[in-house]
Amino acid sequence: MRPIRRLQALALETPALDPSVDYYTKGFGLRLVRRSDDSATFAGADGRTVILTLYRGAKPGLRELTFVLDSTHDIELAASQMRKRGVTVVFSDPTLLTVRDPDGRHISFLADDDVENVQDAEARPLHVSHVVINSQDAATLTSFFVDTLGFTVADRYEQDLLTFLRCAQPQHHCIGISPGGQNSLNHFSVDCGSIDALMKGVGRMQKIGLTPIWGPGRHGPGGNVFCYFEDPTGFVAEFTCDVIQIHDDATWVPREWPRVPDTANVWGTGGPSPRAVELMSGRLPAA
Ligand SMILES: [Fe+2]
Repeated sequence: MRPIRRLQALALETPALDPSVDYYTKGFGLRLVRRSDDSATFAGADGRTVILTLYRGAKPGLRELTFVLDSTHDIELAASQMRKRGVTVVFSDPTLLTVRDPDGRHISFLADDDVENVQDAEARPLHVSHVVINSQDAATLTSFFVDTLGFTVADRYEQDLLTFLRCAQPQHHCIGISPGGQNSLNHFSVDCGSIDALMKGVGRMQKIGLTPIWGPGRHGPGGNVFCYFEDPTGFVAEFTCDVIQIHDDATWVPREWPRVPDTANVWGTGGPSPRAVELMSGRLPAA
C-alpha cells in the first residue's frame, strides 16, 4: 500500500438531516456545497474540498471515511493489493477506490487534491483532523489499519482503550480506534487552525445557544486543543487545533497513557462530561 496522505472526509447517516444542516452551517461554520432531499455535503473554509456528507438514514451511523493517496497510479495499486489480501472491493476506477473494512463501513481513496488551508474572516474549520471509531472488534480493525493500510500507532491509552493511528502525514493521528459495544462513531474532529479560530467557533456556537459538552481543554495524547459539541443526531463533533506534528519517526516513541482526567485534559479543567461519555459510546439513539 502506497502512503496515505491524509483523511479528507467522512460520511454519516442520520435521521435528523434537516436540523443537522442548520447546525453544521450556522453553528459549526461549514459551507453547504450540495443539498438534496436525502443528503447534504459540506466543505470547510476553502468552500471546495468536501469534508462531511450527511445522508438521511433510519439510524445514526458512520458510513464512510475518505482518504487521499498521491496519484491515480497509487489508487490502481491499492485496488490490486486489496484484492490480493481478500479485502472486499465495493467500487474501483482510476479515480476512486472503495473497500469494506472488517466492520463493514466503506473506506474510500481519492487521488491527491491540493487543499488550501487558509483561514477566512469567519474562522471556519479548515479540514478534517481525525475520526475516532468505536468497534466491537477493535483489535481486528486496528490490525486492518496498520497491516493493510499502512498506519502506525502514535500513542495509546492503557488497556488499548483508545489507539491513535497516524498515516503518512506528520499529524499525530487522523484515526482513533476504541473498543465498543457496537460499531459506531465515537466522534469526529475538524481542525480550526489556531486557538483563536477555535474559540471563535465556540463563540459562533454559543450565539445560537449551543454549549460544549466537554472543553475547551488540551489532550495529553496528540497534545491538541479540543472543544466537543453534541449535534442534532447525538453525534459528537469536535473543534481542534495545535495537534502534535511528528517529523522524525526515528525519535518518536509511542506511549501508553493512563486513562485519567488529567491526561484526557492536561489543563486540569476536567475529563469528559457524563453526556460526552454517553454520546461517544455511540449507544444513544437519535436525539
Ligand atoms: Fe478528538
